[in-house]
Amino acid sequence: LTTIPVITLDGPAASGKGTIAERVGSALGFHYLDSGALYRIATLAALDAGVALDDEAALAELCRGLSPVFAEGRILVAGEDVTERIRSEEVSRATSRVAALPAVRRALFELQRRAARTPGLVADGRDMGTVVFPEARLKVFMTASARVRAERRFKQLAARGVAADLDELTRDLEERDRRDRERATAPLRPADDAHVLDTSEMNVEEVVKKVLDWWSDASKLS
Ligand code: CDP
Ligand code: CDP
Repeated sequence: LTTIPVITLDGPAASGKGTIAERVGSALGFHYLDSGALYRIATLAALDAGVALDDEAALAELCRGLSPVFAEGRILVAGEDVTERIRSEEVSRATSRVAALPAVRRALFELQRRAARTPGLVADGRDMGTVVFPEARLKVFMTASARVRAERRFKQLAARGVAADLDELTRDLEERDRRDRERATAPLRPADDAHVLDTSEMNVEEVVKKVLDWWSDASKLS
C-alpha cells in the first residue's frame, strides 16, 4: 500500500467524476487517473481487433499489452488518437460488459496502481475506493439522478456537435449503471468510509469546493 496521498472519486455514469477529478487535481497539483478510459481503450482495441467480448483470456492478454499515452487532454494508443472514439455510445455499452470480467480487471490493476505518484493522485472510476486504492486518504462517491446525469451527458455531446436522444441516453445510462452495480467483481458501490455526495442540485464549483474542504479536513487528521 502506498503512502502517497490519493483521493478517489467513484460514482455512476456522467455523475461528474472526470470533471471534478481534473479540477481538484489541478487545484492540488496532483496527477489524474481516468480509470474508465482504460476500460474504454481496452474495449475499443478489442472491437477493432475483432476479439469476442466474452473471450476473457484474449481480452486480458490484450489489456496486458496496452500502453496508452495520456498527453494534453488527448489519448493515444499505438500512435492513434482515440480520444473521441472511446466515448461513443457503442463503446460505452460494450465497455460495461468487458469490465465485468475478472481477468480483465486483474490485468488492468497494476497499471492503475502505478498512477499513484508524488505529490499525489486523484483517481476516478467505479472501484477506486473499494478495490484499487482501499488506503486512499479521501474517498468520495458522487451521485445524481439519472435524468440529471443524462442531461449532463446530452449537453456534453451537443457541445461536441453530436445529436442525441435524451430518453435513449437516460435508458443507456440506467442500463450501464445496473450492469456495473450488479456484477460480482468490483461492483459500483460506495466504500464503507466514503463521503456520499448527491450533486443533482449542485454546480461544478460547489462540488469542487466540497471535495477540497473534505481534503483539507482529511489532511489535518493524518
Ligand atoms: O464517463 P462515464 O461515467 O460514462 O464512464 P467511464 O467512467 O468512462 O466508465 C465506462 C465503463 O467502464 C463503466 O460503465 C464501467 O463498466 C467501466 N469501469 C469500471 O468497471 N471500473 C472503473 N474503475 C471505471 C470504469
Ligand atoms: O466522469 P463522469 O462520466 O462521471 O462525468 P463527466 O464526464 O465529468 O461529465 C459531467 C458533465 O456534467 C460535465 O459536462 C460537467 O460540466 C457537468 N456537471 C458536473 O460535472 N458536475 C455538476 N455538479 C454539474 C454539472
